[in-house]
Amino acid sequence: MRAVVAIRYGGPKVLQIVERPEPVVGPRDVLITVRAASLNPLDFKVRSGKAKLALPLPTPVALGCDVAGVVARVGAEVTRWKVGDEVFARLEKLRMGGLAELAVADEQVVAAKPRTISFEAAAAIPLAGLTSLQALRESAAMTSGQRVLIHAGAGGVGSLAIQIAKILGLHVLTTTSTKNIDFVRSLGADEVIDYTRETLDATPHDLDAVFDTLGAASELASIRATKRGGTVVGVGGLPDGAFARAWLPAWARPAVWMLTTRRRRAATRAGVRFVYLFMRPDGAQLAELAGWIDDKRLTPVIHRSYAFAEIHEAFAELERGRARGKIVVTISS
Ligand SMILES: NC(=O)c1ccc[n+]([C@@H]2O[C@H](COP(=O)([O-])OP(=O)(O)OC[C@H]3O[C@@H](n4cnc5c(N)ncnc54)[C@H](OP(=O)(O)O)[C@@H]3O)[C@@H](O)[C@H]2O)c1
Repeated sequence: MRAVVAIRYGGPKVLQIVERPEPVVGPRDVLITVRAASLNPLDFKVRSGKAKLALPLPTPVALGCDVAGVVARVGAEVTRWKVGDEVFARLEKLRMGGLAELAVADEQVVAAKPRTISFEAAAAIPLAGLTSLQALRESAAMTSGQRVLIHAGAGGVGSLAIQIAKILGLHVLTTTSTKNIDFVRSLGADEVIDYTRETLDATPHDLDAVFDTLGAASELASIRATKRGGTVVGVGGLPDGAFARAWLPAWARPAVWMLTTRRRRAATRAGVRFVYLFMRPDGAQLAELAGWIDDKRLTPVIHRSYAFAEIHEAFAELERGRARGKIVVTISS
């Protein structure tokens, strides 16, 4: 089968489409004929080696976390799926390989593909949709009527987070550049901050939470903008102690502690909880997102679709960081 791999850690040139053996199907695994996959910044962070402390994947490393396709085979103990089912999934963290003709996943992380959308649109959902749901409902424990600021509302995560926040009954502020103001409003944002003209500190926003996808560039301002007792959920910057204990080798943990001192102190001073979220694959939550899609309450946004052979162009577009929604790759038809 053909698969996209990074032959070693490095820049765009290490990316290749290669022939690989079919994945081994364990007793609880589902083998999926991938029809479409989507890209996430994690793919270039893994390719470059930036993520290797937390995800020590041996090279050549198969890339791609999000798939939509058709079940080709199931392991002996699989009860939920059968050959021919249309499914989608955020693959397990240490078993990437979604940018391939076949991908394998534990049955627990798989969900039935939404009936009303294409494989391409379904592939745009898992990682970004689950991150958004987990950030708002679990990490920040938000409840209806509360106010949240979602950074980068036009991006792959932001474009789903705005819609999911509205489904959860939240009042949504978002940051974006001038060209995307109408777009984020069309997704449901109640208030838009044009980051090219206005800083977050300019006005008090009385926020219960900030979902910060931007990282170091904005986390301190996010903490200042959150009211006492509120939460900032970060996904794009440095992790926190809980992540370091769970995912990093012991020798790296003191460095995380040192590097996050300013953020920790700012949060303590402001009476704000900072939580780093490392999203988790979850088939049950994915099924919930699929329900919202089929009910027309949640719409995946595709920035652009690429053919499998255009994988270098697709990664280049992802790394520009200007996508409006998700970048999708068609694997087979
Ligand atoms: N920890 C986790 O589990 C987890 C999970 C998901 C994602 N993430 C991380 O979250 C980050 C975002 O992911 P993504 O998929 O949303 O990325 P993305 O789709 O590549 O983000 C692109 C978007 O960012 C916007 N943007 C860039 N600079 C901005 C700024 N200063 N203010 C507001 N918007 C800005 C751009 O809009 P304009 O063109 O309008 O500037 C563009 O629409 C990445 O670092 C990713 O690795 C982490």
